Amino acid sequence: MLEKKIRINQPVIGEEEVEEVSKVLRTGMLTAWHGSGEKVSEFERRFASYVGVEYAVAVNSGTAALHTALAACGIGHGDEVIVPAMTFVATANVVLIQGAKPVFVEVDPETLCMDVEKFQNAITENTKAVIPVHVYGSPAEMDAIMDIATDRGLIVIEDAAQAHGATYKGRKVGSIGHIGCFSFFASKNMTTGEGGMITTNDAEYARRCRLFRTHGQEEAHMSVMPGLNYRMTEFEAAIGLVQLSKLERLNAIRARNAEILTGSLKNIPGIVTPTFPPYVKPSHYVYTIRVKAGPKRSRDALQKYLEENGIEAAVYWPNPVHLHPLYMGLYGYQRGSLPVAEEASDEVLSLPVHPKLSDEDLRYIVEKIKEFFSEF
Ligand SMILES: Cc1ncc(COP(=O)(O)O)c(C=O)c1O
Repeated sequence: MLEKKIRINQPVIGEEEVEEVSKVLRTGMLTAWHGSGEKVSEFERRFASYVGVEYAVAVNSGTAALHTALAACGIGHGDEVIVPAMTFVATANVVLIQGAKPVFVEVDPETLCMDVEKFQNAITENTKAVIPVHVYGSPAEMDAIMDIATDRGLIVIEDAAQAHGATYKGRKVGSIGHIGCFSFFASKNMTTGEGGMITTNDAEYARRCRLFRTHGQEEAHMSVMPGLNYRMTEFEAAIGLVQLSKLERLNAIRARNAEILTGSLKNIPGIVTPTFPPYVKPSHYVYTIRVKAGPKRSRDALQKYLEENGIEAAVYWPNPVHLHPLYMGLYGYQRGSLPVAEEASDEVLSLPVHPKLSDEDLRYIVEKIKEFFSEF
């Protein structure tokens, strides 16, 4: 049995989180029916201030954040929402659940974020919104997206589930579109176990998000709009507050780790290391290389080799969303529909870059990758 196990991601949880959760548990106030308990409200205030927006609304997952955002914008039957094909399926599922149609578009071959020109070409008279995704924490091309959206009267909902603290031309993601959505799932740069946050400068969107997360109740048992129970608990918010206070420091460690990996891997033939435009600061959620397949030198073979050597590497995502059976069946997408996203899905491999990696771990990851390629 191999001793070493380097995980693709690991939450950084310390005594501070344990203490803060214990304090909440001792109060006996675990949650509030309206979702705005003391800790949740404090977490919302701090998160809004960190991202640089007026309002933040906490919910219980990133999926809930996206769903709530769509509902608050009034997106429903007959509407189309443009979604990049390289994303986690949640980005599209929430559109479908709202009764609208996700329309998948190609991604930029370098950043794997939405291709702006393809986005523009996909707009129809039914298009109501677009959801740019900051893939792996690398910001989408927000200026061009906002220009097109403004021109065509579209709502922009940023999927920042992987991009806590990332910036685009000096602005934090989640503050650039009309609404931003974050996930606090356990693997993310900051976590509450499960959880999510919506950010916006629009008071009416914020009000509707608050209503939607608690069955549309303005007062208890007085629903004024449809909704669900998407509330965050007080103890999750207590974890979130501590995690938020560590985010910048931990992101800086991720950036350093990414630099070390790039320095060591960039000259290996067969590997393409990630690059970013000079005006963005990514959050480095994962470190994603492209493996250009040669004989016996496939991405899957490298993943298996790393796995056998105790290194967890992951494929985000083995199928672009348009090739999930659900969406192939609903809209007739097939292999070949969006070739850039499909090629990326065949080649991407995400390596660990999280702050718990030691220098020795990083050296070991590099050594094993070099070893794999030296055989060919
Ligand atoms: C790009 C993207 N969007 C949405 C989500 C959904 O977030 P959650 O898992 O918190 O529901 C994720 C989470 O993994 C994600 O990576």
